[in-house]
Amino acid sequence: MGGTGGKLGRKIAFSYVIFFTVVLVSADLYISKKLETRGESELRKSLIAFAKTFEQTLTPSLIQSRDLPRIYALTKALGEASGLRITVTDPKGTVLGDSERTFEEVPEMEDHSQRPEIKWALRGEIGSSMRYSTTLRTGMMYLALPLTETGNIVGALRVSLSLQSANDIVYSVRRPIWAALIAGIGCVILLGAILSGSLTKRIRSVTRIALLYSRGNFSERIPLKSNDELNILSKAMNQMASALEKRLSEIEREKAKLSAIVRNMAEGVIAVSRSRKILMLNPSAEKIFGISGQVSVGKLLIEVIRSRKIDETVSLAIEKQSLLSQDLVLATPKEKHLRVNAVGISSSESEICGFLVVYDVTEMRRLEKMRQDFVANVSHELRTPLTSIKGFVETLLSGVFHNPVQSEKFLKIINENTERLHRLIVNLLDLSKIESQKNPLQPEPLNLSAELEKILPMFASPIREKNLSVENRLPAAALPEIRADKDKLHQVFVNLLDNAVKFNKTNGRIVIDARLLEGKIQVSVRDTGIGIPKDAVGRIFERFFTVDKARTREFGGTGLGLSIVKHIVEAHGGSVSCESEPETGTTVAFTLPI
Ligand SMILES: Nc1ncnc2c1ncn2[C@@H]1O[C@H](COP(=O)(O)OP(=O)(O)OP(=O)(O)O)[C@@H](O)[C@H]1O
Ligand SMILES: [Mg+2]
Repeated sequence: MGGTGGKLGRKIAFSYVIFFTVVLVSADLYISKKLETRGESELRKSLIAFAKTFEQTLTPSLIQSRDLPRIYALTKALGEASGLRITVTDPKGTVLGDSERTFEEVPEMEDHSQRPEIKWALRGEIGSSMRYSTTLRTGMMYLALPLTETGNIVGALRVSLSLQSANDIVYSVRRPIWAALIAGIGCVILLGAILSGSLTKRIRSVTRIALLYSRGNFSERIPLKSNDELNILSKAMNQMASALEKRLSEIEREKAKLSAIVRNMAEGVIAVSRSRKILMLNPSAEKIFGISGQVSVGKLLIEVIRSRKIDETVSLAIEKQSLLSQDLVLATPKEKHLRVNAVGISSSESEICGFLVVYDVTEMRRLEKMRQDFVANVSHELRTPLTSIKGFVETLLSGVFHNPVQSEKFLKIINENTERLHRLIVNLLDLSKIESQKNPLQPEPLNLSAELEKILPMFASPIREKNLSVENRLPAAALPEIRADKDKLHQVFVNLLDNAVKFNKTNGRIVIDARLLEGKIQVSVRDTGIGIPKDAVGRIFERFFTVDKARTREFGGTGLGLSIVKHIVEAHGGSVSCESEPETGTTVAFTLPI
C-alpha cells in the first residue's frame, strides 16, 4: 500500500518536472533562435556597411595593381581600426592580404576560392557564411563583396567577425532562463514532494479505511480535510460506509431473527441446492434424522437421509416450484412417522432452491393409535359383560325364571357381569380423573409402613384361601416420611397386592420391601406366582393389557389396575418397573420422591 502512494507522489512530481522542463526549454530555444536570427541579420547588415566603406580604400584598381605590400598594409590598418578581420583575394580566390596574418604568412595561405562567401562574391553577389574558423578557433561570421572594375570581377573583399561577443549576448539572455529552469525544477520537486507527501498520506489513509470497509469493518471514518476532490471522495465513502453499516446491521438483525426462529423450530428444516446438496439444517432436523449438521452440510440429501422418497419429493418440488406434502415412515435409526413438506423456491444452482420442513408425527400417531385402541378396548370390554347380561336376562324372560335352580344360576352370572361392568366403569373413571388432573393430588406427610398396614387386612380372606404368607419389611427399612396423596397411595397398594394375591400360587409368598435410592424410596411387591412371559413384561402397564384374556376374565380383572398405578405414581413424580420370571414370580416396584 505504501508503494502506491509514494509512486503516485513521484509520478505527479515527475510530470510537473517534465512539463516545466518542456516549457522552459522550448522558451529558451525559441528565444535563442529568435536572438540568433535577429542578431545574424543585424550583423550581416553592419558587415555589409563596413565592407562597403572598406571598398573606398581597398579599391578594385588597387587589387588589380597587385601591390601586395600596400594591400597588406591597408588591410592591416583597417582591420586594427575596425576590430574586424579583413581578407582580400584575387578573382581566383588567392589571398592577397589578411589583417590577422603577417605579410610573410599571406602567400602561404590556402586557396580561398572554395569558401562559400568567396564563391558567391566571385560570382558577383554578396556572400555570407557562419562557421567555425580553424585559423582563429572560434565561430565566425563571414561576409564577402565582389570587387568590380567596369563590370569585371577583379577580386573579393571579405570582412569577418568573431561570434564570440554575439554568443555572449545570447548567453547573457539565456542564462537567466536556465537559472529559472533549474530553480523551477527544484521548486517543483520540493513542492511536489510536500504536496504529494500530504496527498499520498491522505490517499493511504483512504485506502486503509476502504480496505477496512471491504472486510466489513465500518468502525472508522475518513477524516475530512481541505475542500478538494479527495475530500469529496472521502465524504462519499463515509456516507457509503454509514449506509452500508446501517443496511448490514439491519440484515444481520433480520438474519439473527430468522436463524433464531429456524434454530428453535420444532419442525426440522433442511435447505438444499438445485442438485439437492444440503446447504443448511436446523437442530430439529438433526434430531429427527439422527444426523450431525457439521458432517451433513455440503453432502447430497440422499447420502445423508437415505430416503429415496424424500429426495424425489424435493426434486419434484424444485422442478415444479411448488409445495408437495408427503407422509412417510422412516425405518432408521428408529421407526419414525414423518410428515414432509417440500417447497421449491428457486431453480438457480448457486443458492437455496428448496426447503424441507419435516414434522415428527410419531408421538401424534402413537397417541392417535392409543385413543383408537382405547375406544375399541373400552367398547369391547363393556360389550362382553353386557352381552352376557342381555343373553341371560332374555333367557330368564323366555320362561326359565319358573325354574328356581336355573334362575339362581343365571342371576349369579348376571350379578358377576354387573359387578365386572361396575368395576370397569369405576376404574375407567379413576383413570380419566387422574389423567384429566381435575382432582389434583392432595399430598400429606405419610408413613408408608403404617399405610400398608391399613390395606393388608382387606386381603385377609383370599390370603387365607390360598394359604399365602405375607411379609411386610417396610418397618425394618426405617423409611423417612414421604409426601403423597393418601387415597391414591392406598389405591396403588390395593392394585399391586390384588395382583400379587390373584396371580400367586397356593402356599405362595408375598414380600413387600423398600430401599432408599438417591432422593427417592423404592417400594417393591414380590410374589411367587405364575409370572409374566418376557415379551409381555414391558406392556403390563398399558391400559386393558392382560397376558391371558380368558384367564383374566376368570379372575374378574379389567386390565386397568397397573395402568392406574402407573398414572398415580407418575403424578407423584415417581416411576414404575417390573421384573418377572414365568412360573417363579413377579416383582412390581414403584418409586416416590422423598
Ligand atoms: N403379579 C403378577 N403376576 C403375574 N401376572 C401379573 C401380575 N401383575 C399383573 N400381571 C399381568 O398383567 C396384567 C395387567 O394387570 P392389571 O393389574 O393392570 O390388570 P388385571 O389385574 O388383569 O385387572 P384389574 O387390576 O382391573 O383387576 C394382568 O392381567 C396379568 O396378566
Ligand atoms: Mg390387577
